[in-house]
Amino acid sequence: MSAERNIVVLTGAGMSAESGVPTFRGEDGLWEGHHIEMVASPEGFARDPKLVQRFYNLRRAALKTVEPNAGHLALARLEREWRGDFLLVTQNVDDLHERAGSEKLLHMHGELLKARCRNCGEVCSWSEDLSSDTRCAACGKTGEMRPHIVWFGEMPFELETITNALKSADIFLCIGTSGVVYPAAGFARTAAQNSSCRLVEFNIENTAISRQFRERVIGPVSVELPKFVEQLLSDTHRQAWLER
Ligand code: APR
Repeated sequence: MSAERNIVVLTGAGMSAESGVPTFRGEDGLWEGHHIEMVASPEGFARDPKLVQRFYNLRRAALKTVEPNAGHLALARLEREWRGDFLLVTQNVDDLHERAGSEKLLHMHGELLKARCRNCGEVCSWSEDLSSDTRCAACGKTGEMRPHIVWFGEMPFELETITNALKSADIFLCIGTSGVVYPAAGFARTAAQNSSCRLVEFNIENTAISRQFRERVIGPVSVELPKFVEQLLSDTHRQAWLER
């Protein structure tokens, strides 16, 4: 076993839960009585753009009240100290991984802090509210700006890069996701095409995909990830030392 191994990490809403960002499928799965699919789909936006903009405006504003937790910090440490390739793929649209120091990071479901013009396709940083009066700074059109978020029925970002990284992964960590939304829910199977890939799931409970993992860590990310990263790095450093 070489110390220079490739690692791919997938995170979901459970990663940010302890920071105070609500998960999607907790309790009744509703937001102000609306199913999540109603406020996170192109059909929902066409039906009631004001409602959808308000949903994302509230979530964007709430980012100002939350901080990365010890789990985010542990993943940033892993990236800094890891000798092989590293890729962190998140389904989360918050910016807590960045704020914790993660850099090799892909937001496959988009970002709350970006907006996109439906007319010209321009993507720009966005930290304030969006409304039907918002004007695109690139093309000048009003009423076409939408959250840069992948809604139900839309294609996630960076899938080719992610699939290639999964195929050459020696370690795949799947953290805080319920495993019901594809394609992310299928990433463990892609990584498992390499039969020697180490597959580890982190969650507070069993998920729809738990059976695909040879190792499972049950417990909150803020507690379990720092311990796991510490152990993984010390095992890897010892291995590198033995190989000298
Ligand atoms: N530590 C570990 N896991 C946790 C914690 C925690 N502190 N808190 C919650 N979890 C787990 C839950 O048990 C659940 O399995 O996090 C998971 C969150 O699941 P979902 O709410 O379904 O979120 P996620 O899997 O990220 O959703 C995927 O669905 O709605 C879409 O685009 C949206 O990116 C989202 C996608």
